[in-house]
Amino acid sequence: MKKYIVIGNPIDHSLSPKLHNYWIKKNNINATYDKKKLDEDELKEIISEVKEGKINGINVTIPFKKAVIPFLDELSIEANETQSVNTIYLNNGKTIGHNTDAAGFELSIKYSKYELNNKRIFILGAGGVVPSIIFSLKKMKTSKIILSNRTEEKAANLKDSFKYIDIVKWGVIPNFDMIINATSVGLKENDEIKLDFSKVEKNKIFYDVIYNPRQTNFLKKAKNFGHKTMNGKMMFIYQAHQAFTLWHKIMPDIDNETIKLLD
Ligand code: ATR
Repeated sequence: MKKYIVIGNPIDHSLSPKLHNYWIKKNNINATYDKKKLDEDELKEIISEVKEGKINGINVTIPFKKAVIPFLDELSIEANETQSVNTIYLNNGKTIGHNTDAAGFELSIKYSKYELNNKRIFILGAGGVVPSIIFSLKKMKTSKIILSNRTEEKAANLKDSFKYIDIVKWGVIPNFDMIINATSVGLKENDEIKLDFSKVEKNKIFYDVIYNPRQTNFLKKAKNFGHKTMNGKMMFIYQAHQAFTLWHKIMPDIDNETIKLLD
């Protein structure tokens, strides 16, 4: 039986086991997918188990997406450019680190049928998922990527890696076609981003990477102002779909039942 796990700390909240085990069962694959809470000093050992064939694949979540990199033999282009690994597997005896968050974001945009070509994008936050989103937005040929983070230094660090982005001070709201909340504000039901969006022109797109709760205050307010809104559920499903396809060489269905599974 093949063995897959998701590692992180904390890990209780992760819905990856639910989704992967659902697809494993649906496709009659002889495999298990579990979650494992780890400390940073255990990363080397767990990755060596992939090399030895004891574990067939690992998903990596917060806070280890960067920390696993020194223990891997090779990185995919996406993982290298974002310095962020969420999927690990063995290929020709080598442990490979890949990033499916970037494709997950792009596919969620395709699913929504929004056209981002030549559009101005404003990102809030500079945490772990942001490099993947920037990489993906660049690939989609957006005209401008503007980023703002409460702690300016973290925004400046991102600019060192992605020279083409513009940074604005926290509190400044530039013109945009789509705004993305990539901060952790909204994870708690009462969380509110202390920014004033009342002067934003109508009919923009508000995207929240958070999908639990399903509608953050950021999206609720945007809806009231007449904007289009989208949460991070499809991004989450598509990143898992990419990892699953890579590991099992089977493309599982993303049907209504799959989407409902995460409600
Ligand atoms: P990590 O930085 O470990 O990857 P994350 O959850 O991915 O963590 O990122 C948290 C993001 O939410 C950061 O951009 C953080 O801003 P800071 O860099 O200033 O900490 C942002 N964030 C968290 N709480 C916030 C708040 N109350 N207001 C604004 N931004 C906040």
